[in-house]
Amino acid sequence: LREMRKTNKTFPRQTNTRILDAFQSFAQFDRAPIWMMRQAGRYLPEFKEIMKNRDFFDACQDPFIAAEITLQPLKQFDLDAAIIFSDILTLPKAMGMEIIMDKEKGPVIKNKLETIDDINRIKSPDPQSLEHVYDALYLTRQALYGKQTLIGFCGAPFTVFSYMVEGETSKMFLKTKKWLYQYTQETKKVLDLIAKESAQYLINQVKEGGAQVVQIFDSFAGQIPFIDYKEFVIPSLRILLEEFKLECPTTPLIMFAKDQNGVEIIITFLKMFLGDTPLVDGFQLDSNVSDEVLVKIIESDRTIQGNLEPGVLFGTQQILKKRVSQMIEKLQTTRRFIINLSHGLTPEHEVEKVRLFIQESIRQSKLYKVR
Ligand code: CP3
Repeated sequence: LREMRKTNKTFPRQTNTRILDAFQSFAQFDRAPIWMMRQAGRYLPEFKEIMKNRDFFDACQDPFIAAEITLQPLKQFDLDAAIIFSDILTLPKAMGMEIIMDKEKGPVIKNKLETIDDINRIKSPDPQSLEHVYDALYLTRQALYGKQTLIGFCGAPFTVFSYMVEGETSKMFLKTKKWLYQYTQETKKVLDLIAKESAQYLINQVKEGGAQVVQIFDSFAGQIPFIDYKEFVIPSLRILLEEFKLECPTTPLIMFAKDQNGVEIIITFLKMFLGDTPLVDGFQLDSNVSDEVLVKIIESDRTIQGNLEPGVLFGTQQILKKRVSQMIEKLQTTRRFIINLSHGLTPEHEVEKVRLFIQESIRQSKLYKVR
């Protein structure tokens, strides 16, 4: 597989261009494109089956297993994208963090950063250590056969840094804040380091693996005030985005700064360019995004991805249909939109409700076809 990837970078012709069209000014539109965060996951019985006797990171590291899991939701749902089965912690793991995926607790880092001397432990990934991700992408892209768009991803520097110092998913982010406000210089240094490695990681996902779109997950962006986000986090994100766009100017990039409902953060990203190239092409939005933010994004000709609260899928058919309709009504003023949830699917979701969400989104977005 790896030899084939290194010598043959041709892929099947793209027949489904809905996602890619959502990033073009004169988009064709038969219906809105749709995919779901965490679409390959524990709500699927076939996912639980394949993971039954497997460690999470072992599964990620086997390109054939990772590709198979990535393709699972596409076998039964009419989705327009595949997001590669991996984790935002794949990169810090390759940078020297010892991470295990605990079945109950989620990720646990055994050698988290505790003192400023510990930052010397962080290293550039050994080139071999991430090749499996590019192999899995390549294999998936071949298998998709142009019928879906392949999405690569990474965690944003701040979210990855939080894991490095907290050692697990945190509620209060006290260690993160201690580092940020007490060891500010060291924190910035680590953020910049993660940013540079993340840029290279995304570039390789595109150039080596064939990823067609990339998404950056800043899941913990909402844990600090915007004033801190702007001062400490944006500079490292700028490094990441600039280095990526320098190498991959035509690859659409979606930013997901979760729980940051303020208009400030979106405006900050809208103003970021490399020459004439916007650094962020699309925004994954929260459910409760304001009209002010929507207008700003639409006026700036960027793509909107969003934004149904996944909890609505626990509700009745009536409320689900109504909320899908209201979401589309709001978003369809631009052709540049991609239907998604506002965060990921969880093990509690039912397959049939997920199917209804997809079917309703497709049916209702078709009503706007001839606008
Ligand atoms: O389908 C997809 O969206 C692609 C794969 C993907 C996973 N994780 C697989 C996964 C993606 C894009 C991620 C991103 C990720 N990982 C984020 C950012 C998105 C978000 O949810 O905010 C974060 C914060 C993580 C870290 C992480 N990984 C946690 C907190 C956990 C455990 C709890 C949970 O939410 O499931 C994981 C494990 C993980 N990553 C699983 C999957 C399918 C579950 C593994 C299992 O226990 O079988």
